Amino acid sequence: MNNYIKIKNLTKKYEKNKSIKVLNDISFNFETGKTYSIMGPSGSGKSTLLNLISLIDTPTTGSIEISSNRIKSNNKIENDLIRAKQIGIIYQDKNLLSDFTALENVYLPNLLVSKEKQKSIELAKKLIKNVGMSSRINHFPNELSGGENQRIAIARALINNPDIILADEPTGNLDTYNAKLVFEILFNLKNKNRIIIFATHNRYFANMADCKIMMNDGNVQIINATS
Ligand SMILES: Nc1ncnc2c1ncn2[C@@H]1O[C@H](COP(=O)(O)OP(=O)(O)O)[C@@H](O)[C@H]1O
Ligand SMILES: [Mg+2]
Repeated sequence: MNNYIKIKNLTKKYEKNKSIKVLNDISFNFETGKTYSIMGPSGSGKSTLLNLISLIDTPTTGSIEISSNRIKSNNKIENDLIRAKQIGIIYQDKNLLSDFTALENVYLPNLLVSKEKQKSIELAKKLIKNVGMSSRINHFPNELSGGENQRIAIARALINNPDIILADEPTGNLDTYNAKLVFEILFNLKNKNRIIIFATHNRYFANMADCKIMMNDGNVQIINATS
């Protein structure tokens, strides 16, 4: 199915500074099977856009459609469920709950929807293995390096097999070696049923996406989109 995420005339203003449009009438279709990078100076609205697509934040005006389902921004319960089942999110840091082990951090979001603990744990172990972290499953986040935290965060984001993966500067705090490792894992998650959208300041990683979105002053410019 194409045109999986449609954003239409999306505008975002914040209460404090109503005169400033953080997003200024943005329309775009994200298609399944593709990767999208978002670049732009700090404050250009990258996180705002990702927070709207992840249904964490609500637009001032405009609409979001996910797989032909028009999002009702006031229906928090339904939107939380859509997010839990369909969207995997990775932030720059603080992705993991500090009082839980790596394994618990990964399996808990699945337990919430599957209610089958043993199955959730087995699935989590498999995903942790895929990111090369099997030897750290019982470690707490503060016992893991930045790169290791992000690899566990990726496993966590994948636990409900999301159709949409959103990453907001996922390697912003990592050295080049670990950043490459994380992006390698991220690009390997590409498949024909999935959309991957990431914000980054790194040109090299941004250029690896199928489509580049440049943000500036609340507007977007699309580069090398194939449709
Ligand atoms: N909760 C908020 N209240 C008021 N202004 C905000 C809020 N969140 C973000 N902004 C403003 O919106 C603009 C875009 O922020 P953001 O989306 O975080 O940019 P980026 O991720 O590109 O650095 C910035 O000018 C920021 O100050
Ligand atoms: Mg940001």
